[in-house]
Amino acid sequence: MSKQRILSGVQPTGKLHLGNYLGAIRNWVQGQEDYENFFCVVDLHAITVPHNPATLAADTYTIAALYLACGIDLEHATIFVQSHVSAHSELAWLLNCITPLNWLERMIQFKEKALKQGENVSTGLLDYPVLMAADILLYNADKVPVGEDQKQHLELTRDIAGRFNDKFGKKKRPILKVPEPLISQSGARVMSLTDGTKKMSKSDPSTMSRINLLDSPDIIAKKIKRCKTDQVRGLTFDPENRPECNNLLNLYTILADKNKEEVATEFANMGWGQFKPLLTEVTMEVIKPIQDKYKAIRAEKGYLDSVLAEGRQKAEKVAAGTLAKVKKALGYLSPL
Ligand code: AMP
Ligand code: TRP
Repeated sequence: MSKQRILSGVQPTGKLHLGNYLGAIRNWVQGQEDYENFFCVVDLHAITVPHNPATLAADTYTIAALYLACGIDLEHATIFVQSHVSAHSELAWLLNCITPLNWLERMIQFKEKALKQGENVSTGLLDYPVLMAADILLYNADKVPVGEDQKQHLELTRDIAGRFNDKFGKKKRPILKVPEPLISQSGARVMSLTDGTKKMSKSDPSTMSRINLLDSPDIIAKKIKRCKTDQVRGLTFDPENRPECNNLLNLYTILADKNKEEVATEFANMGWGQFKPLLTEVTMEVIKPIQDKYKAIRAEKGYLDSVLAEGRQKAEKVAAGTLAKVKKALGYLSPL
């Protein structure tokens, strides 16, 4: 039997942080041998909010290199850039025309981001989830591994696929595959270091709120040293009353690859002064090999270009097949 297919992506906006790693990329790596994988750098999504043209290309490279540095293996995965495969934009347009506006207006991420943009909300920001649906549906993905924050967008993707199939598919022969979200329990929601009730995010104005995968050891130590804690002695998993403590213990648990009970006992009588250096140590143990590999990849000129060129070819082939099926179902005249 052929393997199930996975598709996922990260935006080249800002730097990759521990939330992206633990919520998404680490899970891609852990499951990669069991699936046929497509991982893209979603640069078309990056311009849904004001962006800097001078850094977009370099940021795209960085994310692709980090995929490899985190352990994505080209034997099991195709890595490519979303804007290199024009079928993404084209399918997004076609899906736009069958997606009711009020489905998009309900999206929590749109409402939150729109609030931050004030007057300057682009149509692209509203349309963001339709482009994401196109990303996924083009590859007939069975599963989409993402963090908890993307769950609503996945549900929308399923609704769009279902609606398309109902309207234009033949009974029992759906055109678009309806995908399943794959949200791992442990790293699904990594919280900010400065506010344990908010998720760690690339767009938080405070750089102290997140640990980036490419932060130096000194910076990481400083961010953990200064992160928000509380006055209670003894550390406990208590999301309701001690959100910061809960988040830091969670981070430790995942990074040290221990179980919760073990960690709860280990730190039951410990204070912050003892805990923080230990958290710094396990964080560095995970991040240091990623940084070393990243540097080696960036130093090898031309390598990343060849990975992305090959990725584009493989992705294009699959995407073109789905796009042709969709256009046929919609009744388009084939190019003559
Ligand atoms: P983005 O940075 O928005 O492009 O997100 C890329 C991936 O990281 C998506 O799968 C998100 O769900 C995941 N992600 C982003 N922030 C977090 C977080 N704080 N905790 C867990 N996963 C996250
Ligand atoms: N919206 C996703 C995020 O911000 C990124 C994304 C775009 C994505 N297209 C995708 C994730 C397709 C998974 C599959 O995290």
